[in-house]
Amino acid sequence: MSTVHLIDHPLVQHKLTLMRRKEASTNSFRRMLGELSTLMAYELTRDMPLQEIEIETPLETTTGKVIDGKKLVLVSILRAGNGFLDGMLNVVPGSRIGHIGLFRDPQTLQPVEYYYKMPEKMCERDAIVVDPMLATGNSAAAAVTHLKNRSQPKSIKFMCLLAAPEGIATLQAAHPDVDIYTAAIDRQLNDHGYILPGLGDAGDRIFGTK
Ligand code: URA
Repeated sequence: MSTVHLIDHPLVQHKLTLMRRKEASTNSFRRMLGELSTLMAYELTRDMPLQEIEIETPLETTTGKVIDGKKLVLVSILRAGNGFLDGMLNVVPGSRIGHIGLFRDPQTLQPVEYYYKMPEKMCERDAIVVDPMLATGNSAAAAVTHLKNRSQPKSIKFMCLLAAPEGIATLQAAHPDVDIYTAAIDRQLNDHGYILPGLGDAGDRIFGTK
């Protein structure tokens, strides 16, 4: 079974509380999401492999460590996932970006893919799938399934801001190999699939829509 990593750094928890408040403006919500995603990306990249290379300092030759392998790919689940990207790129600026768009079929209630675009050489890259809210877990599980079937990245992590217990259970059951990174695990979903206490609709709060 995959591990759920709770990122409980004080700065992450502080910013998350400010973001949850209904008074937070679009501007401050977006800014704090940017700051939070930088801090979270720092934690998520803790286990990146290193290689030793030879370098010249102004004084002598020495060796140093640099990140090994192909650039990471950040996979945004549209549209709210895009709110994570700029902040994460502060930590891993060379990352490639992929997008997955899914909508819920009103008849079957199943997620249907409407957009899929990934960088090349995916099988040599580690992927971080990002979506601020892991609510029912259906879109997250579907996005990871599409990613595995179509692109076979070397590894996959899932990053969100808030996770509901229901979403964690769904994603873990579908993809026991995908670790989940979250800033909080909230109480439950309401009847409309919103996370409680939550922060509302993440996409609306990021983009200032209603
Ligand atoms: N998506 C959101 O944006 N918010 C929720 O609470 C659940 C899903």
